[in-house]
Amino acid sequence: MCGIIGVVQKNEKALGEKMGIIIRDSLKRLEYRGYDSVGYAIIDRNGRLVIRKAKGKIDDLLKRLEFERFDGLVGVGHTRWATHGPPSDLNAHPHTDCSRCIAIVHNGVIRNYQELRDELASRGHMISSDTDTELIAHLIEDYLREGFEMIDALRMIMRKIDGSYAFLVISCRETDKIYFAKKISPLIIGLGEGFNLISSDIPGLIKYSRKIIAIEDGELGYISPEKIYIENIYGERIDPLSRVKIIDWTIEQIERGGYPHYMLKEIYEQSIAVRNTLASVAEQIRDVINILLSDRDIFITGAGTSYHAALVMDYALKYYLGARSTAFISSEISLYKKIFDKKSVLIAISQSGETIDTLNALRTAKERGALIISLTNSVDSAISRESHYKLYIRAGPEIGVAATKTFTSQVTFLLYLVSELLREQDPDTGSLIKKELEESPELINRYIKKIDKESESLASILKDSRNIYVLGRDISLPVSMEGALKIKEISYIHAEAYPAGESKHGPIALVEKDFPVAFTSLGFEHNHVMVSNIEEMKARGAFIIAVAPYSDERIHRLADYSFLMPSMKTMAASILYVIPYQLLAYHLAVKRGFDPDKPRNLAKTVTVE
Ligand code: G6P
Repeated sequence: MCGIIGVVQKNEKALGEKMGIIIRDSLKRLEYRGYDSVGYAIIDRNGRLVIRKAKGKIDDLLKRLEFERFDGLVGVGHTRWATHGPPSDLNAHPHTDCSRCIAIVHNGVIRNYQELRDELASRGHMISSDTDTELIAHLIEDYLREGFEMIDALRMIMRKIDGSYAFLVISCRETDKIYFAKKISPLIIGLGEGFNLISSDIPGLIKYSRKIIAIEDGELGYISPEKIYIENIYGERIDPLSRVKIIDWTIEQIERGGYPHYMLKEIYEQSIAVRNTLASVAEQIRDVINILLSDRDIFITGAGTSYHAALVMDYALKYYLGARSTAFISSEISLYKKIFDKKSVLIAISQSGETIDTLNALRTAKERGALIISLTNSVDSAISRESHYKLYIRAGPEIGVAATKTFTSQVTFLLYLVSELLREQDPDTGSLIKKELEESPELINRYIKKIDKESESLASILKDSRNIYVLGRDISLPVSMEGALKIKEISYIHAEAYPAGESKHGPIALVEKDFPVAFTSLGFEHNHVMVSNIEEMKARGAFIIAVAPYSDERIHRLADYSFLMPSMKTMAASILYVIPYQLLAYHLAVKRGFDPDKPRNLAKTVTVE
């Protein structure tokens, strides 16, 4: 996701460098978050708002952005990771209001973007970018024109906008303050002597401050060189000093948010990623609903983890809608080639949007007249550029090679889409899926530490195993497949997912005493025979692991190791139920001495056939 930095100082010597250079260096330290454009705004000594921004990487833009030229007492900077609107000079932050007196940088996704855009346009605002961020600048402009103070304007805007955000605002009318507001997206203040900083992330400010204050959801305020003011959305003041923490991490640790590996950070980030996905899905899918409800043959494709997300959607379409959908691995396209025609629609799923197998599948289907809908994480990738409809999960950049948060965000997006497709046919089930999706971020937060501990102790038991089966039925099969993929990718233990019912037709031949066999049961699928499958494995001495609802006593009684999961009623459970496998894979890799972020022989983006 985007990186933001704000700096405010008493005089131009307070930080020992020119404002432009301070911002440039902070943005460099935020680069690891992933970005496509850079920009900054400084109010110079004449009170003039200077803005420089462009698409590209900082090092390639040094000349154009003239960081070294500008100094001032207040400035904000931004690295953009595109969500609304493709990467471009115009869409790069900061954004301004019509009078170009207010500059804003933002990290997050505004859910009611379209509504706000229409409203502002009808009031005559000139909206020049495709971003959701610019709308906030125009909203501020309106409130200030009506005579409100900036802080009151921000409080009202927080009530008006829906979604996730951390934004910084500077104004040519108040040149000693940076205003801020936060919901979901992170925001941290760094305290200094004669200056203060504010950033999305500790690396952005660590060179100048190790005394930090974390802003909480629903809070807003401002920083000036000598003061920190924080209040909540109800206007109640918060004592900032009660929150001060001293950071003693190394820069490397800081970039990983204090986690030892990116993979673990990204597993823990899933509640935020799922929230961000939910924040924009409804607005994005409006146009594709009718296409999917029309009499078309639906194909869904992807590679690796994205294929497993495709399978979840395929199961959901069949199970809930009785649709004749087909999910296939993108490199297997030749098998389906002749089936595509003008009545087909292909949903191409890819985190990177660059996987050549998926791109080839898309091109083949397109050549035969199929309509293409893509679902990617990266905006403006090759796959999204070549699609008729581009959808984005908006999970933020994923650095660990093994996909984790992008899988749960893909599943969230696709199941939300299915819930909308059910609107006519079975609105109650549609609403129930949506409700469980909306509850998922909170459930992840509630369960993740417990699952982490349990996975770690299970990893101690399994670390010398050579094989693991991961079995499931119905919807628990794609979840098991994703679980097995995680285990083999980063711990190098041979892990095989199989339909539980089919396990007696072959895989069981390998089972002997202490052979680990994991069973996934989401609890509502046709799992009544799962117990027999467990008994069969147990009778051969298998070490049984169960990932099942806590209420499913039959399963847990048979298990040697149990993950007691919350009971859910819909396929939304696949989001939570994959987490024990992600964490087990992670701990197995660490205990076996491997780097989970960089598995051997694998690449994050595969652009060869
Ligand atoms: C590679 C990665 C996997 C990923 C797959 C598909 O194999 O190592 O983690 O699932 O590509 O990538 P995509 O970007 O298309 O989702």
